[in-house]
Formats: sequence, structure tokens, C-alpha cells
Amino acid sequence: LPLLALWALAGYLLGSVPFGLVIARALGLGDLRAIGSGNIGATNVLRTGSKPAAAATLILDSGKGAAAVLVARALAGEDAGQIAGLAAFLGHCFPVWLRFRGGKGVATFLGLLIALAWPLGLAACATWLVTAAVTRFSSLAALVAAALSPLWATLLGRPDTAALLMALALVVLWRHRENVARLRAGTEPRIGRKTGR
Ligand code: G3P
Repeated sequence: LPLLALWALAGYLLGSVPFGLVIARALGLGDLRAIGSGNIGATNVLRTGSKPAAAATLILDSGKGAAAVLVARALAGEDAGQIAGLAAFLGHCFPVWLRFRGGKGVATFLGLLIALAWPLGLAACATWLVTAAVTRFSSLAALVAAALSPLWATLLGRPDTAALLMALALVVLWRHRENVARLRAGTEPRIGRKTGR
């Protein structure tokens, strides 16, 4: 168990690196927390107008979730992989560096899912893409993808991960509570837009 705690700590620290914030700052795009939704994720980086910066944020934020799973699993087995992935996700959402006010966990969630079981990860990414293509709401796509992931796990032969995915989906929902309020009020901006009109 102490060893698993170390994997959790390592995953948390990796996950807590706020790539969106770092990239936006490095490229002179400003402080993300003063732009759009104020979130540190790829969707909000896109609101700076830089597609490459948004793509880099998406890749690095999902990559850290995948890396946490893959490294811990390779060195210490499946349990360590799952714990490190969960910890990376929590690190992204609640990073110590930002006084625990981090991101919404979507990219990190998709990344860890691809590493955990790639058919599951692909199903979740497809769910996100289809919902986003139809509605143009990044937040709604994330909520649908997270909510359906335990179902995909059950259908695709990984029911052992369903409880973990339910917990992750609840955190994703909690982190999107402002988006949920905006969706209900009709003021949520579509992908690439700064405001809800
Ligand atoms: O990945 C976060 C996304 O679901 C919502 O981001 O900036 O629109 O709150 P944002």
C-alpha cells in the first residue's frame, strides 16, 4: 500500500501541471483565468484565438493522464496504473499550485481512459466528438462522454473499471457546475466563441 500511495503522489504531481496556463503564458496569449470561462483547459485556450495552442494543451493535458497510467502500470502493475491515472485527473482538477482551483479534467480523463483500455478511450472520444459536432458545446460533450463512460466500460468488457469511471464522471460534473448553469440559462458559448450568443 505505501507503494501505491507513492504512485498516487507521482500521478497527482504530473496531473497538476497546468499545461494550458503555461502554454498560453509562454505564447503571450495572456492569463487564461481572465479569458472566456476562466478555465485552464484546451476549450478556453481556443478562445484566445490560437488553434495550435489549444491543440498543444489538449495533447499535453491528455498525455499526462495517459502517461500516468502507462508508466505506473509498466513499473508496478494494473492497480498502480489505475490509481496513478485517477490521481493525475484529480491533480488536474485540484492542483496544489493553483490553490486547488484547477481545470475540469476532460482531456486528462480521455487520456487516462485511452491508456486504461483503448477501446473504451476511443468510445469516449467518439462520444465527445459526436456530441460536440451536433451541439457545438464542449462542456455538454464532456458531460455526455463522462456520463456514458461506465456504460461503455460495461459493454466493452471492462466492467472492473466502471466504478472508477462513475467517480470520475461525478467529479467532471461537479467541475462543470458553472457550465451546467449556463447551458440551462442558454448562455453557454459554443466552441470557439467567447460569449453565449
Ligand atoms: O474541457 C472543459 C470543457 O468541457 C468546458 O470548458 O472553458 O467552456 O468551461 P469551458
